[in-house]
Amino acid sequence: MNKKVFIRTFGCQMNERDSEVIGGLLKKSGYQISATDKEADVIIFNTCSVRKHAEDRVWSLIGSYKGSKIIGLVGCMAQNYKEKAFERDANISFVVGPQDIDKIPEVLGKILETRGQSPKNGDSPLLLERKIWEADSSIRPEEIYHTGFYQDKNHAYVVISEGCSNFCSYCVVPYVRGPLRHRKSKDILAEIQGAIAQGITRVTLLGQNVNAYLDGKINFNKLLAQVNGLTGLKEFDFFTSHPKDANIDSFKAIRDLDKLVKRLHLPLQSGSDRILKLMNRGYLAKEYLELIDSYRKIVKGGLLTTDIIVGFPTETEKEFKETCNLVKETEFNAAYLFKYSSRPGTQAEKIAGDLSREEKEKRHKQILDLQRDISKKLRHKRSHEKK
Ligand code: 5AD
Ligand code: SF4
Repeated sequence: MNKKVFIRTFGCQMNERDSEVIGGLLKKSGYQISATDKEADVIIFNTCSVRKHAEDRVWSLIGSYKGSKIIGLVGCMAQNYKEKAFERDANISFVVGPQDIDKIPEVLGKILETRGQSPKNGDSPLLLERKIWEADSSIRPEEIYHTGFYQDKNHAYVVISEGCSNFCSYCVVPYVRGPLRHRKSKDILAEIQGAIAQGITRVTLLGQNVNAYLDGKINFNKLLAQVNGLTGLKEFDFFTSHPKDANIDSFKAIRDLDKLVKRLHLPLQSGSDRILKLMNRGYLAKEYLELIDSYRKIVKGGLLTTDIIVGFPTETEKEFKETCNLVKETEFNAAYLFKYSSRPGTQAEKIAGDLSREEKEKRHKQILDLQRDISKKLRHKRSHEKK
């Protein structure tokens, strides 16, 4: 009987795609992918380390399995903890970082091999409890993206670049996913054509900073034009843009390319110049405003969404208000609002002046209420315009 694997995904779209990649590789090696944990022999947690809360949830979930299944910790937490994960929870059998996911079928094969054996005379069964960790690679083989396994019949996430070299001071991503690497445009287009051949008509291009994409002479805007030209593709979008690299040309592409969705996700993070500098974001609030002003002039009626962190170390009430004012002025269609979470190893962790939990929660609630009203107002306006 083929062993059944359940993959549970936490975090961003990049992780959603990584879980499909892992699923595709496991299927190719003869495993079955199951839809729930109940019937599974193996449970893989594909994890996120961006905020502490996400990690805490995974630790408590892993703890709830109590030795009944084979447990694998993969993704960002795996890279963060490496072999220390086994000390944290002895139930974990394997730990595989984001750059090593191609090795998962082999790792799982080795674990299952030893599980099937019974201890020799006098040996402790613990001797057969093999633990394997892989977290040393810096590149992913291109083949992993071509198993043709997508969860959704109509839509595919397609990675265009991996990792990030921006080192925003609060962010763990450059440490766990390594420096920015670009896939070759011909490989990206071949993957999309393969997906189209399976009946997929919508695609989302993924990267931590898609605007920085570069493959020889092919920059992001050229890639967008190439994707737009693919026969059989009906619609596509991309995720995430960085204000320091987003430019007028990409806004013109959103306006001009008929298949590209008229939407931009442009993380602001803070409306205070002092905090933006401490965050190492590389732009001023005024420059952000100018950028979205040109987006709105070029892409008439285009949607705009953002990410914001409140309660960054040393953020004053006045600086928080500057963020609120920018939110009011800009009127984002939606905003993902986060409380700052200190991440081990980042530069921000070293900044003295972390705010109290109560203060972060107070600011978070305030900005949530503000954005909720704005989103509601804009939805109302749009539904009237459609009538
Ligand atoms: N604390 C809170 N939010 C964070 N993000 C990234 N790192 C942290 C952190 N340490 C948020 C940013 C980013 C989004 C994906 O997660 O807003 O854009
Ligand atoms: Fe993290 Fe900044 Fe890179 Fe986004 S751009 S992944 S926030 S370091």
